[in-house]
Amino acid sequence: MNTIIEPFKIKTVEPIYFTTRDERAHILRQAHYNPFLIKARDVIIDLLTDSGTSAMSSEQWAGVMRGDESYAGSDSFFRFEEVVKQITGMPFIIPTHQGRASEKILFTIVGGIGKYVLSNTLFDTTRANVEFSGAEGVDFRCTEGMDPALDAPFKGNLDISALQSFIVDKGIADSSMVMLTVTNNSGGGQPVSMRNIREVSALCKQYQIPLFIDASRFAENAYFIKLREAGYETKSILEIAQEMFSHTDGCIMSAKKDAFANIGGFIGIRDEQLAEKCKNLLIMTEGFLTYGGLAGRDLEAIAIGLREVMEEDYLTYRIRSIKYIGDKLDVFGIPYIKPTGGHAVYLDAKRFMDHIPVCQYPGQALSNALYLEGGIRGVEIGSVMFGKYAIDGSLIPPSMELVRLAIPRRVYTQSHIDYVAEVIVEVYKKRREFNGYQIIFESPSLRHFTARFDPVLF
Ligand code: F0G
Repeated sequence: MNTIIEPFKIKTVEPIYFTTRDERAHILRQAHYNPFLIKARDVIIDLLTDSGTSAMSSEQWAGVMRGDESYAGSDSFFRFEEVVKQITGMPFIIPTHQGRASEKILFTIVGGIGKYVLSNTLFDTTRANVEFSGAEGVDFRCTEGMDPALDAPFKGNLDISALQSFIVDKGIADSSMVMLTVTNNSGGGQPVSMRNIREVSALCKQYQIPLFIDASRFAENAYFIKLREAGYETKSILEIAQEMFSHTDGCIMSAKKDAFANIGGFIGIRDEQLAEKCKNLLIMTEGFLTYGGLAGRDLEAIAIGLREVMEEDYLTYRIRSIKYIGDKLDVFGIPYIKPTGGHAVYLDAKRFMDHIPVCQYPGQALSNALYLEGGIRGVEIGSVMFGKYAIDGSLIPPSMELVRLAIPRRVYTQSHIDYVAEVIVEVYKKRREFNGYQIIFESPSLRHFTARFDPVLF
């Protein structure tokens, strides 16, 4: 059968509030043309992020009721620790309240001035925490990953020869860590192959540089390996994940993604001394060793979610449902990063809105057009988020102007997905009617969250 059906039934529902196009035009104006400033109830389909937005299962909610809130040594922690150890094989597991708390702790210890953290692509909070420690983050994305229109199986891979040259050039002692992000969120949700993990690991061993994985979307990555890499067809997701982690010295995870939890994260570490240092910081900044920054009930939800995310019926549905949007866009030649990734569709705004110059933010224009036409909220990943200013005040844009439509896990049905595709197509047909924007207010860092815009009229 070709119909994609959700591998779950719905027990609890939340209302969606509909708005008219005129109402949305008013809402967008009130929000200074920045979708981050729109109230969630004014959004029909919210694709701002897949982080912390999952629907929990009845088992997870049952786990929430079982949560043991003891300050020290709670049962919930041991259930959480058992699952995380089983998947990652790491002997030391440190719970945190979310991914960036893991990053803050880890880079406070291994970062610092003169150090480099090397990656396929660091996620923005990861990079911010690396840089806050005084270290520098450097990305080595493979060449296939730079071409949005190219359809290749593992566009999240790290460019090994570029990494090696950098290590040799800068000196091994200054390279504090390699961090592989799986799947590669900022690179389009694209997977990293097992072969690439193995080769990066061999290089790291050669130069004695620790290798960590940012495992926020490890199960989606493992599923792509099963689908696309020879030798993994008959392996279970758990086996593939175990092998991915076996090549590394540690991991960080935001449990708000592939653990179906609304909050949470952890650090997994092999080295006892490093783990001890992290634990000291954990107690100072997050909480005691057996809860980190979480309630016992959150640890239960994560433990159960981590098992559920590895179910193949779920992953098959998840990846097919996102590819389904891509297939619909292909019919109209709508440009997006190919192939579709694990958690999102990334529209190529530079080509989609090719009448809007980069200095007028085509990604912001597309994102606002999707809201105006259909109440869909996505996020610009382009010059608003990553653009820098030259000395003469002109914009230095990043290489791509994208709009990410991230799909929350188990939240929207296939008819919501059909609606999303329909709105994108409608906006594409009318694309020349949409204008660009100028920034009229911005904060000195992470400006995309609070920037205010004015339309640039034709
Ligand atoms: N690493 C990756 C790969 C991420 O995608 C994120 C968050 C983090 C770390 C930080 O985790 O939010 O729990 O502190 N990504 C979200 C997103 C915010 O929308 O992609 P966190």
